[in-house]
Amino acid sequence: MWKVVWATLLLLATVCAQRGYAKETKGAPKVGHVSVVIVGGTGDLAKKYLWQGFFHLYANQVSSGYSFSFYGGGLLPKDKATPFLFEALKGVVCPRELSVERCALVKEQFLKLAEYWQLKTSEDYQALGKHLTEQLTQEGIVEAGRLFYLSVPAFAYADIAERINNSCRPTDGAWLRVVLEKPFGHDFSSAQLLSTQLGTSLKDEEMYRIDHYLGKQVVSKILPFRRENSKHLDPIWNKHHIERVEIVLKETLDARGRIPFYDQYGVIRDVIQNHLTEVMTLLTMGLPANLSDVKEVLRNKLKIFSALQHLDRNCATIGQYQNYNLEVQEELNKTKEYYSLTPTFAGIMVHIDIAQYEKMPIILTSGKMLDERLGYARILFKNDIFCVQSHNSVHCKPKQIVFYFGHGTLQYPAILVSKNLFKPDLMDTEWKEITEHKDVSVLGMPISDYYVLTPTVQREAYAELISHIFQGRKDSFISTENLLASWGFWTPLLHGLAKTSPRLYPGGADNGNMLDFKLLGREVNFANEAVVMIPQDHMGGSGAESFQVMQGKYRSAEMVSAWPEELIVRLAADLQASAEKAVREGGRFHLALSGGSSPLALFQRLARHHYSFPWRDTHVWMVDERCVPLTELDSNFRTLHDHLLQHVKMPYFNIHPMPVQMNQRLCVEEDSGALLYESEINQLVNASSFHFVLLGVGYDGHTASLFPGSKLDAHGDSLVALTESPAKPHQRMSLTLRAINQAQKVGVLVMGKSKHELVTQLSRVKDNPNKWPITGIRPTSGRLVWYIDYDALLG
Ligand code: BG6
Repeated sequence: MWKVVWATLLLLATVCAQRGYAKETKGAPKVGHVSVVIVGGTGDLAKKYLWQGFFHLYANQVSSGYSFSFYGGGLLPKDKATPFLFEALKGVVCPRELSVERCALVKEQFLKLAEYWQLKTSEDYQALGKHLTEQLTQEGIVEAGRLFYLSVPAFAYADIAERINNSCRPTDGAWLRVVLEKPFGHDFSSAQLLSTQLGTSLKDEEMYRIDHYLGKQVVSKILPFRRENSKHLDPIWNKHHIERVEIVLKETLDARGRIPFYDQYGVIRDVIQNHLTEVMTLLTMGLPANLSDVKEVLRNKLKIFSALQHLDRNCATIGQYQNYNLEVQEELNKTKEYYSLTPTFAGIMVHIDIAQYEKMPIILTSGKMLDERLGYARILFKNDIFCVQSHNSVHCKPKQIVFYFGHGTLQYPAILVSKNLFKPDLMDTEWKEITEHKDVSVLGMPISDYYVLTPTVQREAYAELISHIFQGRKDSFISTENLLASWGFWTPLLHGLAKTSPRLYPGGADNGNMLDFKLLGREVNFANEAVVMIPQDHMGGSGAESFQVMQGKYRSAEMVSAWPEELIVRLAADLQASAEKAVREGGRFHLALSGGSSPLALFQRLARHHYSFPWRDTHVWMVDERCVPLTELDSNFRTLHDHLLQHVKMPYFNIHPMPVQMNQRLCVEEDSGALLYESEINQLVNASSFHFVLLGVGYDGHTASLFPGSKLDAHGDSLVALTESPAKPHQRMSLTLRAINQAQKVGVLVMGKSKHELVTQLSRVKDNPNKWPITGIRPTSGRLVWYIDYDALLG
């Protein structure tokens, strides 16, 4: 195997910059031979970016004394795959600084140094390992290191790492670097498992986890920019001056062709957990004293992760482009009934609990099939100047710094500082200021209103990172701790959203303002509430704007059904109508509310949108309560308080929690809490008949805190009873069937795919309250209405 030496000698002769191969000196970094193996070398990523990146590395390094050999590894046999590999290799282009002649020469050598190697079995890896070592001995060259780039699905990582460890480790004193592409897990526990598995074969310093955003020139300049401009930034880089931070990745493409991967991941796992989160930490972390001190950078990043406020599903809005589901059905061979809940769009608000950033919103958003391709991070500063006349004056314009990753109107990467902030310092000779502009606007301001810094030479992220791997620079890669901290932060939200139906959007310009979202306290909601689309093949709808509320019968009572958001809108409107009617007729509205998770969206809707609700004349009662102090998180009253009562103006004496805690103990029969509540109802509620009782139904058919097997008949004429739940906390207080059935209207809210089986089962069973307490709900003279969302109804 003389081609390595031959090719290298030829080049060295041409470039004059001769430096012989280094003699092996143990432990010290050295020049010598580098073997590069791309496992997945004929795949898409390799074709698009990796070979190009390695070619740049080769072109830049070959005259500095290194020699190289390149292997494209894959599952196919050599004769089949070699043409594919060379097809990919032929497409590489030279760095701009190379002359045409030198470019041709370097490229010719590069092609000579590359070959395909089948990497399917352990024996294949053994053969490769043997070959790499033999090559060194035969040619008498010193080994600098071996670089394995795993461009394969993540499930294969652990096996490949083991094979590399068993048979492909380099000779003594040379380095091993194994590069891994995301996804690194699916959530916290899978990431932890993968890390442990990889840890049995590879040392931490041998693993290079790629996040290609860290190779984008603008992203890697965030910390140096903050450092260079610290005299301007230090005083304003805080909650007092920053209105909000936006980190945005908008894409126009769909997920077609990648569905088997994408459908398991969705937008949060695909780009937010990694790319956008990394940008967020770079923008907010404490500036390290030494920017290239990997440990200090990591420490500062981890401080941010540990201060991130826990996210729940109210902190996010999610969407899915309308054709996505069809693509899923096609690519995953699913039936027409299959519905994917994977979001292709998300808007999320994050807060950091440290004094510097307290309450300062950080918005992370990304989506496929949006109107434009654009990525940026924008720091929008507060502008406290009120311009009385000259609205165009520079003082009145937004003050912002934009880290513009590329694409969009500008089409090149740049750091933009609005001129009413400060003139930024040029960081180094690799960056320049642009003063001549095309006539474009960036985020609402003409480009001429910004100072614009851009890299002197634009470089592709993968090429940058490949050169960092070669230099052993670990600061541009994701360490295990960083990875786990990020998954630790995102996993609860991902689990919280797992059953949420994303809002459907048509894609492209037609999205209009459908995906706009607004921030309210710690919550994020779509700004435009009204549009809920139903895919045509699902409900026979007639196009993008169609949405429906279906009315029908369920268990021979009335039923209203819609997609979750629309259903909640409808239920809230029905409640308000009942309240207005009751107040008109009798001056009061008596409403009894249940616990559980289904009514949360209703409470929020009422709190946020029903400002004309007659709260002043509404009395709120509890349908049931857990025997825990009212301040505990699992108390139904506490939930009601947090999500509704604290947000509306209602006299305190109209609020009627159940007296589950008396004499400093919980639900003790002799304390007569149930009797007390009953007499309060008798005193205040006309004929003890609530105007509206809102119920839910549990998987076992329970409603209120009336569970299967409880002897409901034993409640006799009581309105309130102590009951037992099979789930913890076991003790409960509940309205009885009698109290509920006396109501003027009873609504039963059932939401979510997980209730589908129950809904189907209940549609078939006869009334049997002891087995299915919900079937005992038969208002004597009032109305029963089932509010069932499409997920629960259709599965
Ligand atoms: C990748 C995601 O990591 O990043 C893709 O898997 C996404 O879904 C891409 O399109 C975006 O990267 P860029 O560099 O085009 O912004």
